[in-house]
Order: sequence, then C-alpha cells, then structure tokens
Amino acid sequence: MKYKSQQIAWWFFALSGVLLLLQITYGFIMAFAHLGYDGLHDLIPFNAATATHKNLLVVWILSGFMGAAYFIIPDEAEHELISVPLAKLQFWSLAIVGVVAVIGFHLNWWEGRKFLEIPRPLDYLVVVNVLLFLYIIIMTLWKGKKRTTTSLVLTMGLLFAALLYLPGMIWFDNQTMDSFFRWWVVHLWVEGVWELIMGGILAYLLIKLTGVDREVIEKWLYVIVGLTFISGVLGTGHHYYYIGTPKYWLLIGGIFSAMEPLAFLGMALFALAMYRKGEKRHPNQMALYWTLGTAIISFVGAGLLGVAHTLPAVNMYTHGTFVTAMHGHMAFWGAYGMLVLGMITYAMPLMTGRKLYTAPGASYAFWLSNIGMVGMTTAFAAAGVTQVYLERKVGMDFIDTQQAMEVHFLVLIAAAALFTTGIVMFVVNFFKYGRPTDEALERS
Ligand code: HEM
Ligand code: HEM
Ligand SMILES: [Fe+2]
Repeated sequence: MKYKSQQIAWWFFALSGVLLLLQITYGFIMAFAHLGYDGLHDLIPFNAATATHKNLLVVWILSGFMGAAYFIIPDEAEHELISVPLAKLQFWSLAIVGVVAVIGFHLNWWEGRKFLEIPRPLDYLVVVNVLLFLYIIIMTLWKGKKRTTTSLVLTMGLLFAALLYLPGMIWFDNQTMDSFFRWWVVHLWVEGVWELIMGGILAYLLIKLTGVDREVIEKWLYVIVGLTFISGVLGTGHHYYYIGTPKYWLLIGGIFSAMEPLAFLGMALFALAMYRKGEKRHPNQMALYWTLGTAIISFVGAGLLGVAHTLPAVNMYTHGTFVTAMHGHMAFWGAYGMLVLGMITYAMPLMTGRKLYTAPGASYAFWLSNIGMVGMTTAFAAAGVTQVYLERKVGMDFIDTQQAMEVHFLVLIAAAALFTTGIVMFVVNFFKYGRPTDEALERS
C-alpha cells in the first residue's frame, strides 16, 4: 500500500463486518419465526426484523464498496485522497444514519416499501452522505496522475448508484406508479450499476492477483459493461409483469431479462481466463479464492437462479415466494457479499503488514460460508417450491401453507449455522489483523 489515506478503508471494512453479523442475527430471528418460534414478536415484530435484515444488507455492502473505493482510487489515480478528515466525517455520518434507521424500524418508523423502508427524512441524510463520498472520490481522481478504465468504471458505477437512489424518493399516491419506480432503484442497482462497481473491483483484483496486463483485463471490462446494459436496463421489465403496467412488458421483460445471465457468465469466464493466463502466483491465495468465487457464485445465484423465475409464465406462480428468497440470497452473497469479503482479504495484509491469509481460519471462513450458503439456498428452494405448489396450484390457505413449510426452516437454520461459523471466523480474522500501520506503508 502506497498512500496513507488508503488506511481510512479499514473503518468501512470494520463497519461492514459488524453489520453483516447483525444482519445474520435478524436472519435467524426470522428463520425461527417461520419455524413457529416467534418468542421475540412483541419486541421485534416480523416486519421490523425483515426490514432490518435487508437494510443492514444494503448498508454493509455499500460500506464495503466505499471502503474498496477509498482503497482503490488513490492506488489507481496515484494520489492521496483529497481529505481524510472529510472521509472520516463521511464514515461517521454513514454509521449514524444506519443506526438511527435500524432503531427506527423497531419503533415502527419505516415506509413499508421492500428494500426502501428507510423513512424520507433519513433519505435526505443518505443523499448528503453519498454526495460527500462522491466528492472525495471524484476530486481525488481529478487531481490524480492517472485515470484508468478500472477506476473510471468503478466511479461511474458509484455515481449512477447515487443518482438511481432518487427515483425511490418521489412521492406517488398510485400503487402501480410507486412500484414502477421502486424497481428503478432496486433492479437497476443490482442488475445494472452495481455490476459496474463489481466489474471495476473485480478488474482491480484480477490485475493485482494474476499479473495479467491491464490492457487485456480492461478490454474485457468493456464487454461486460456492454452486456450489462444491453440486458439489464430493459430487463427491469421482469418486475412489471402483473402490477398494472401495459402488457408489452411481458414480452420486453421476458426477452431482455433472459439475456442477463450473459453478463454474469461473461464475468465468470473473464475471471477464470485471467486466472489461467496469469503467470504470477500471488501469495495471497485466499483473495484469489474470493475473487474467482465471486465470479462463479454470482453466475449461479444471479444468472441461473434468476433466469429460473424470470419468464412471465413462471413468475406468475413464483412471485414473492421463497423462490425469490432462494435467488435473492445466493445472488447477493455471490455477487456483492463475496466481492466485499474478497476486497477486504486482499487489502488487510497490505494495510497492516501482517499475513493472516495463511491462517487456517481464513480458508475455513471461505469454505464454511460458501457450503452453508449452498445449503441455505437449497432449503429456500425446497420451501419455495412447496409454497408455490400448495398455495398457488392446489389453492391451500396462506397460513396452512406456512405451516406445511415449517420443516424446511430446520434445514435452513442448520445450513445458516454453518454459514455463520464461516462469517464469524472471517470477522475474527479481520480484527486479529489489527489496525493499519505506518510501517506497512513504508515497506511498499
Ligand atoms: C447480482 C445480481 C442480482 C441480485 C443481487 C438479485 C437480487 C434479487 C432480489 C433481492 C430480489 C427480490 C426483490 C424484491 O422483491 O424487492 C430479486 C427479484 C428477482 N430477480 Fe434478481 N437479483 C440479481 C440478478 C438477477 C438476474 C440476472 C435475473 C434474471 C435473469 C433476476 C431475476 C429476478 C426476478 C425475475 C425477480 C422477481 C421475483 C419475484 O417476482 O418475486 N435477478 N432479485
Ligand atoms: C445466515 C443467516 C441468514 C438467515 C437465517 C436468513 C434468513 C432469511 C429469511 C428467513 C428471509 C425471509 C424473510 C421474509 O420472509 O420476509 C430472508 C430474506 C432475505 N435475506 Fe436473509 N438470511 C441470512 C443471511 C443473509 C445473507 C448473508 C444475505 C445476503 C448476502 C441475505 C439476504 C437476504 C435477502 C436479499 C432477503 C430478501 C429475499 C426476498 O426478496 O425474498 N440473508 N433471510
Ligand atoms: Fe430484477
């Protein structure tokens, strides 16, 4: 690590790890509730738990992206961040908004729109926070010596992600209109601009870990960005099937979203091809595992499990069931969760000068979390198929169906325990590294 200001990334990574553990806690509360044990109901009703679970997810991923940007941009631009005190201020305001939002959910202060539950006044604080973040990143790039494709793709992703937060803040009296624009945030984030952020971070990691020429890696990046936009933008239509929008969305959504796995397949092939081509064997093998893992698991979770319910004839039955949760977990984990953990695994030895990636805990963390997540996805799939069949084919009542599904949540909890063991090992390893040191800075 060359630039002292990169050390600020540690705070964002630490916040990420802590919020991930908290997110998991709420996952267990819900899994037990589905199993029939809802003892905490008066304290943490299900709506508060599910809003907290999903919003913590978004915040820990965003915190990871911000940490990644503060680490990558100085390195790529060959310039210190323009202001560390401002970045610190941005960090604390992010943490405070997150904590206030979570407390608010428990006091019934929320908006009730899935993933966008944060109440409007807090939305404005989010906007100010993200503007500050973007100012620091863009000015650093501006003043820097170099503007590489990798850093530009990453920055464009972050900028568009911020802009796409705004459609979720418009007020509509009409349910269909509100739903229509909610997807501009939720879908165009994960199947659009976040993929740019993912492409940027993956390219950076592959350049560092495989030693393949930047030109080769960045050429692929263009292909991936192209595929993402060709399929992802009109792919939004897979959320417009039966919500009161015109019928042509059935066709548009079906066709374009069916092409979306290509972008993820592109990313997986890209990462594997660079790995095979690379002659350098980077000592931090765990960072390589997470990087290749991101490319592969995201193709399975987002690409394959996404396309499984994307056609109108299928989605008519599966919409809003545990089939969605099956896909949601593996897609988020594979694409964005693993990416953030990969970035942390790469950056920590460079920030602290210690090499804990050889510790057994580092590799157990990878395998246990991934095997656990495959188990969780399978449990959700079994629950989802049962739900679709009983409720929507046979016509069983909602509550009777919920009871028929309970057994699948036993399997979910067992697999989630495995997953959680891996994550706890990861976070323990992270804190064992200690804080960034100036000696690590001088050595490179
Ligand atoms: C990394 C990328 C992706 C992530 C993180 C992701 C995550 C999610 C999440 C969390 C939901 C639930 C949203 C909600 O109800 O508010 C969802 C829904 C959906 N996703 Fe994805 N997804 C990704 C990519 C894809 C791809 C590539 C496809 C299709 C090829 C796809 C198809 C769908 C469909 C059809 C739904 C609607 C399910 C329903 O009707 O309940 N997703 N996705
Ligand atoms: C390890 C413990 C976890 C458990 C037990 C768990 C459990 C659950 C449950 C039961 C739900 C359904 C909530 C409902 O019925 O409304 C849910 C939703 C969700 N969880 Fe988790 N979760 C865990 C970890 C994670 C992780 C690590 C991620 C992301 C990387 C994640 C992402 C999501 C998403 C995106 C949804 C919404 C799914 C949908 O749209 O249907 N969860 N979780
Ligand atoms: Fe989507």
